[in-house]
Amino acid sequence: MPPIVSAKSPPLSGRISIPGDKSISHRALILGAMAIGKTRVFGLLESEDVFATASALRAMGISILQNAPEEWHVIGRGVGGLLEPNNVLNLGNSGTGVRLLMGAVGGHPFVATFTGDASLISRPMDRIIAPLSEMGIHFTTRTDGKLPITVSGPATLLPIEYKLPISSAQVKSAILLAGLQAPGNTSVIESEPTRDHTELMLREFGAKITIEDHKDGSRKITVIGQPELRAQDINVPGDISSAAFPLVAALIIPNSKLTITNIGINPLRSGLIESLRDMGSSIELINIRDNNGNKTADLVATARPMRGIDVPAKRAPSMIDEYPILAIAAAYACGTTTMTGLSELRVKESDRIDSMTKGLINCGIKVNQTKDTLTIHGNGNNPKGGAVIAANLDHRIAMAFLVCGMGSNDPITIDDASPIETSFPRFRQLMNSLGGKIELL
Ligand code: S3P
Repeated sequence: MPPIVSAKSPPLSGRISIPGDKSISHRALILGAMAIGKTRVFGLLESEDVFATASALRAMGISILQNAPEEWHVIGRGVGGLLEPNNVLNLGNSGTGVRLLMGAVGGHPFVATFTGDASLISRPMDRIIAPLSEMGIHFTTRTDGKLPITVSGPATLLPIEYKLPISSAQVKSAILLAGLQAPGNTSVIESEPTRDHTELMLREFGAKITIEDHKDGSRKITVIGQPELRAQDINVPGDISSAAFPLVAALIIPNSKLTITNIGINPLRSGLIESLRDMGSSIELINIRDNNGNKTADLVATARPMRGIDVPAKRAPSMIDEYPILAIAAAYACGTTTMTGLSELRVKESDRIDSMTKGLINCGIKVNQTKDTLTIHGNGNNPKGGAVIAANLDHRIAMAFLVCGMGSNDPITIDDASPIETSFPRFRQLMNSLGGKIELL
């Protein structure tokens, strides 16, 4: 548990690339495992969360090998081809890994037990258990429905139509992955579209999938079960959720200008860019390319004073992981920023509304929280800083406050650097290569 500290940094400049998209990396491994043949993944995120998914798949008979730096090969066994694991599957900190895998595993007539770290075993799993139970999968859980959980698949899964009660790409994806193994059509209806990587990638792998957008803004996704998926070559773009940290650092440190190359700009992931632009920041998207339906761009960020805004609740699904770093931008902005519709932030790797409120107050910023809102009163000056922040096993809380410390008057210490490894290997080295002053203690 090494603590890590960041101190006032000179203007950031340069051109960097960012590790691969975490959501796409998990899905590349899981869909590769469910396809026939060798899927080659270029730009896989080589981080603890993705490696936890890889280890779980290996424990179920899938061969996953590194062929070159960031090039991985997955030898798939086809839909329904996983083998019963001999031991408990530990997904570490990864909510995406455990929830998607429960869907992918649930159609197999065997028993698998899942667990995770102290953060993951405290997160809700009933959101997955409800729809997957309707499909005939059996779950044995602790009394509160949390991990460790044993999943036993039936001989045949039932296809279902399920309206998501919460906006969650993980729940949608778990149902679609289970639906691959059910005879007939499995549909998920979401009232607000969430990230659509599973749908887009399933199509690439040859599944028959339809996406209907309804007039009321809702969306229905239907997959036809028991397809033969074909192995693919997948190019993973840089993760916009990781790019968010150097991006905001460059926006808040005066005279910075930074280019971040090859970032995925899927519209269902780009809410942070919209919000930062509403705050008056300068972010240009250049060199826009189409990579098999996945748009990528280079982001050019130039520091400029920012103002407080109201972030609409409707935007939450498209920037759900970016509120911690947006809160830091808001702390440096002039005026009040109000973020609404945040109830899901209470059940992320930590309670992010509470982590941000306490941390920012310790850094000298006025903040109010309610059950599902966060209000930050920036005064256009640098935060005082000088605080010790509890990471609470949450990578994004750790990185957000390290960015905060790069501009604050006094250094900011995070009690534990290790969670950063779950999504952003070499974060410290990359930030320091731009001029950052981040040190392990
Ligand atoms: C993810 C979906 C989101 C997000 C998570 C990754 C995914 O979670 O917060 O980091 O890859 O599907 P929810 O489905 O809980 O919103």
